[in-house]
Amino acid sequence: MKKRIAIFASGSGSNAQKIMEHFKRSTEAEVVLVLTNNAQAYVLQRADNFEIPSHIFTRQEFYETDDIIRMLKTLQVDLIVLAGFLWLVPQTLLAAFPNKIINLHPALLPKYGGKGMYGDNVHKAVLANGEEESGITIHFANAQFDEGEIIHQSKFKIEPGDNLEMVKFKVQQLEHQHFPKVIENLLKKMKS
Ligand code: GAR
Repeated sequence: MKKRIAIFASGSGSNAQKIMEHFKRSTEAEVVLVLTNNAQAYVLQRADNFEIPSHIFTRQEFYETDDIIRMLKTLQVDLIVLAGFLWLVPQTLLAAFPNKIINLHPALLPKYGGKGMYGDNVHKAVLANGEEESGITIHFANAQFDEGEIIHQSKFKIEPGDNLEMVKFKVQQLEHQHFPKVIENLLKKMKS
């Protein structure tokens, strides 16, 4: 049986798109559900385009009920992928899917992680500190922002004159290139 992936995203979902594209052709795994806390998120349109079901949830549903855990268990989800998802994962969900929730972060953790460190905030901080490189980190999620065990990192050089848009572009290129493959490799290693 194919491994089953659920994606959580809060916004545009360009990474979700790359993951859905990648696994559409796969015989090993498939995306079975896209979940979001944001009813306006473009990721919902992207999921629709792939005919993948989606679920919009509220803060109350996420933090105060077991509905989402039940939904993921019913769908027999093997791996939960946080792709631009901005809420902290509740302990109940972590406990229900131990070592099965991974997150994408747009910098080289442990630097530039933690609360408030998402999207442009990350790139602005990297540039303000005059860093010579940045990159991406894929890691297991835990009860803190951006702190679980690191699975993969890729880097690029920040050239003099690189601005916010450039750094953002380079990060996004690496994310789109690596995230689906890292997920595929991780699924291969996971026992069924
Ligand atoms: C990505 O760059 C991801 O690394 C970042 O949000 C972006 C989502 O883009 N995640 C975080 O900052 C989490 N702390 P997308 O919606 O186009 O995939």
